[in-house]
This record gives sequence, C-alpha cells and structure tokens, in this order.
Amino acid sequence: MSETSQPTESRTFPPPEALAARANVGPGVYEEAAADRLAFWAQQAGRLSWDRQWDEVLDWSNPPFAKWFVGGKLNVAYNCVDRHVEAGHGEQVAYHWEGEPGDTRTITYAQLKDEVSRAANALTELGVQAGDRVAIYLPMIPEAVISMLACARIGAVHMVVFGGFSADALASRLDDAGAVLVITADGGYRRGAPSALKPAVDDAVGRSPGVRNVLVVKRTGEDVEWTEGRDLWWDDVVGRQSPDHTCEFFDAEHPLYIMYTSGTTAKPKGILHTSGGYLTQVSFTHWASFDLKPDEDVFWTAADVGWVTGHSYIVYGPLSNRATSVMYEGTPETPHRGRWWEIVQKYGVTILYTAPTVIRTFMKWGEDVPAGFDLSTLRVLGSVGEPINPEAWLWYHQNIGGGRCPIVDTWWQTETGGHMINPLPGVTTLVPGSAQVPFPGISAKVVDDEGNELADDSTGLLVLTEPWPSMLRTIWGDDARYVDTYWSRFGTNVYFAGDGAKKDADGNIWLLGRVDDVMNVSGHRISTTEVESSLVGHPSVAEAAVVGASDPTTGQGIVAFVILRESGVDSGDELVQTLRNHVARDIGPIAKPRQIMVVQELPKTRSGKIMRRLLRDIAENRELGDVTTLTDSSVMNLIKEKLPAAP
Ligand code: WTA
Repeated sequence: MSETSQPTESRTFPPPEALAARANVGPGVYEEAAADRLAFWAQQAGRLSWDRQWDEVLDWSNPPFAKWFVGGKLNVAYNCVDRHVEAGHGEQVAYHWEGEPGDTRTITYAQLKDEVSRAANALTELGVQAGDRVAIYLPMIPEAVISMLACARIGAVHMVVFGGFSADALASRLDDAGAVLVITADGGYRRGAPSALKPAVDDAVGRSPGVRNVLVVKRTGEDVEWTEGRDLWWDDVVGRQSPDHTCEFFDAEHPLYIMYTSGTTAKPKGILHTSGGYLTQVSFTHWASFDLKPDEDVFWTAADVGWVTGHSYIVYGPLSNRATSVMYEGTPETPHRGRWWEIVQKYGVTILYTAPTVIRTFMKWGEDVPAGFDLSTLRVLGSVGEPINPEAWLWYHQNIGGGRCPIVDTWWQTETGGHMINPLPGVTTLVPGSAQVPFPGISAKVVDDEGNELADDSTGLLVLTEPWPSMLRTIWGDDARYVDTYWSRFGTNVYFAGDGAKKDADGNIWLLGRVDDVMNVSGHRISTTEVESSLVGHPSVAEAAVVGASDPTTGQGIVAFVILRESGVDSGDELVQTLRNHVARDIGPIAKPRQIMVVQELPKTRSGKIMRRLLRDIAENRELGDVTTLTDSSVMNLIKEKLPAAP
C-alpha cells in the first residue's frame, strides 16, 4: 500500500462562494440520488438523446451481468457531435489541438461531424461492420478521437492501445480482441523528436492473420515500410469520402469499446464497456464533478486517449456535454518546462485534470516555472490515477490554482468507466489527500476480509455495493474471469475493487493503494506477474520476483529481483541494462524496472510462495518484517549482504 496517502494536513477548504452560487449541482443532489437511485440515473440518461426510450432502467436479475436502460436505443457519436450541430453550435470549438512541435489545429463541432462521417464511410468501405473490433494505435492527434467516434457511429467496437506499448503487447491485444483493422500513424512527436509507430504495427500485424487492413495517418512524414494491398493512407481513403453519413441507432447495451488493463496475472484483461449506461455516467460525472459550463469553460484533461481517463474525459464526457477541450500531443517538458502553463495561458484553460505523479514532477521543477505564466483563468482542478498526497495537493492548490480553485480528487478505474468517489466543487468542503465521498447514485463501503462494513477510522477493503451505469459488463471473451476477479470475494452482488481504503470519523474515504499484485507507476497499472514473466522469458533469467516500491515521484517504482540461470554469467551492470531493455521491449517503456537486483535466492514460504512483502522491505530500505514463515530465514541476510543500498 502507498505510504503517501496518510493525512498530514488538517486544513479543510470550503467551496468558493461564487462557484457554489452557480454550480451545476448543489447539496440536494445527494438526497435526490439516495431517495431513488434508479430514478436519479434515469434522469441523467435523459440528458442524452435517445432514438428509443428504455423500458427498464436496470436489469440486475442475473448478477453480476448488468443491463442498463434495457430496450433503449441511441447512437453514441450522434450524442457527442451531431446533436450539438443540429442545435446550432456547429461553430463552437470542440478541440484546440496543440502538436508538440507547436503546430495547431482548431476543430469545431461542425468540422468534427464531417470528419467523423468521412471516417465512418471509410470504415464501411473497408468492410467493417457493427460489432467488429477496430484497433487504434495512434499518437495524441485528432484522428484518434475521430477514429473512436467513427467506430461508435457504425457500431464497431474500438480497442485503443496506448502508443507506448510494444509490438508484443499490441499483438496479444489484436489477437485477444480479434481485430479486423488497425488505425495507426507513421509516428508522433515525443520529447522533441519523431517517434515511430508503424514498425510495431508491422511486427504485430504480421502475427495477427485476422487483421485485413492497416489505415495509416501521416503525422511525422518519416519513411515507413509498406505492405501493398494491406496498408492504406488515411488521407487517401478517408479524404475521398462524403461528409454525410446517416447514423444507425444501437441498443443501449451494444458494445462501445474494449480497454485492456493489467490484472494480477500476466494476461491483460479486456475490459468491455457498452453504450447507454457508459455515456450517461461519463457525461453526468464530467458535468457535475468539474462543474462544466459548455458556453464558458475551456476544459483540459492532460492524459493520453490510450487510457480510460482519455476515453471518458477527453472524448465521451466532454463531447457529450458540448465542451471546448484542449488536446496536447507531447510531453510537459518539451521544448521547455513551462509548456503546460503556456498552453493554459494561450487557450484560457478554466478546468485542468491531471495526475499526482505529474504534479510531483512539477514540484521538483519548482514553483517559478508556473509563476511565469498567467493561470488566472483556471477555476477547477482535478486529480486522478493514484492517491494525491497532501503536500502535492497543497502545492497544486497554491501554485497552479492560485489558492482559489477547488481540487476534485477522483477515484475510479478502467472497470468503473467513470468517476465513483470524489468531492463536488460547489458542494464539498475539501480534505486534502482524501477522495472523500461516493458520487451521487454510487454506493461504496469499506469492509473487512469477511465483507463486514467497518466502523469509522479503521482500514479495510473498498467495495461497491450497487451496480452503476458505466460499470464494465465483462472481460472480453472471459465471463468466468469477470465473475472471479471482481464479484466472487464477497458474493455476486459486491464488486471488489482491489484497493485498500479507510473511512475517517467524518465519513471521508481515503484510498490506500492496491491490495493485489498490481503496481501503480505514474498512474499506470502494471502487474508484477507481467513483468516477472517478461524477465523469465529472457535466456539468462531463471527466476524473478517483482515488487512495487514507493517512489517519491512516480508513486511506485518497479524493483525486480532475479536469479540467473548460470552462476558464472556476467551479472554486472551490462546485464541489468539488457534486462531492463528487454522488459521495455516486451511490454513497453512504462514497465521498465527502476532497479534490478541479481540475487542467489528468493525468500519463499514453506508452501513455495515468494514473500513479496520482504522484498518490498528491502526495496524500500526498511527494517525487515516478520521472517518466521520463511523456509530459510538466512536467505534474507544473504540477499541483503549482496546488495548495493537501495536508492
Ligand atoms: C488507483 C484510472 C487513489 C486505484 C482512472 C485504482 C486512485 C486504479 C485514484 C485504477 C484516486 C485511481 N485516488 N487511487 N483518485 N484514481 N486510483 O484503471 O488503485 O488506470 O484501482 O484507472 O488507480 O487505475 P486505472
């Protein structure tokens, strides 16, 4: 569990009066939702445009398989784009896009409608049908959003793979999802240089016989390998299509997308989200959690569309609410450390949503950097991805928010689809470091190992006790794993989130990090098993154990302990570098271990289970915990003697 989330700050922050006076939702929202939860969600679904009204709000007759807005029909892309144009807002900017090299594109809702229609026509021409899976492996460019919406428009299921993932990771996802098309680019810009994407696609698609075509956006203009008959340029195929497309309406439970996330085994889970309930919850949470005013705000989620945060709060939430958003391609330090603040100043950003790991990086760079820019347009700040430690909260509040902007710390997961536990900016008195209270219409509890609700001020496990509209519907192709992973520990009515939590005497929930073998590195979920299986896949490695050790910047850092196959082989720096690169190639640079320690033995229990807790003690340079269950307690001394001091 993370050490960073313990309360060290006793000040609380009431909502700013002016904001509260005209906030989208007031304090009454909690009573309203509590009085009739399903009626409350039905009312929020009414914010969308439906082709056919639902017959039943929730069918929970076969838990944990939920159906929301049963019998309703809608088109998600129509809700995100067309209806705003039809209502006379075609000239409103949907995205201020900023490329890393400084090139920009401004896309209005009318233009977005034309582009999405063209792309939808192109997908149909390529034989993509409703229900087919389309992989999207793109940098942060507008075509990523256009591709997602084009899929939604024709009922195809998109599967966005973060551009930082390797060819192997892409190949296993293409295979698991059974994708028929990959949409990619020659590359994107990262840290001031083009970063190629097409080679990984060529490698992965070569192993995926189901993929018929690769649609390639030209972004960097660098040379790419080309497979005639399979590869097609986006500009050729999409460019010649008509900007008119009449959309079809799909069932509320029609699949919208698959997003892979790490679980406790080496095989990532394809989290499946569907249409009506998902859009209802991301739309309403985006509007309520950030107090989004479509005619006034400039909203910026500084994340990648390759993660769920990008899906829900760069694409579906903001567009369904007719927001004007900023979308930025690159890294925060390119070409200088003030790039984000320059963007806030340039577009007059009013709401900024980012992750604690980035805030801690900005803290390291110093407050002089943001102080050089005009950030006075900001009015609400958001945080997501891991617990935000009070120091980072206060720094963000003071140095970015000028002491006047509420910080909305949002706890949720790929699986939950949208916000689940967070304060509301015009209602809640903020407690730095706590995500505070369940969102209206959501039921969360802290329980003990047996599932009994705990008294205030004790630590236990976080569970969700009622189904919610944007919940995952299953794990793609694996209903049994869905039931087993989330709904078996406390019965089929209780969702086990995998997070430790504490409820304080005032009823605020404090998230304490994962309780399973999932690490959280810079807000990215990485499984210890996935990294271990990559390491043992290297010919020099006999055995590996991986732990997440707390890290002042990234939340957790990956620390690996490896036993080599032959004791004689070189175990020096060079091998360690080779192994780190091997993991980066296998899974992606985000999974590269911070530290690899070559050891003779690993601490194991008598039943042969590796004692990760002890390895974590070493990785975090702590006194060793209880070693009495070890087969041989001298193993730990041996490991310690061999090691350089951990950083
Ligand atoms: C963690 C990202 C504390 C948590 C949206 C969860 C958080 C996992 C918070 C999901 C937060 C996310 N406070 N912990 N505000 N937000 N987490 O699927 O451990 O990438 O289970 O979804 O991140 O990560 P995921």
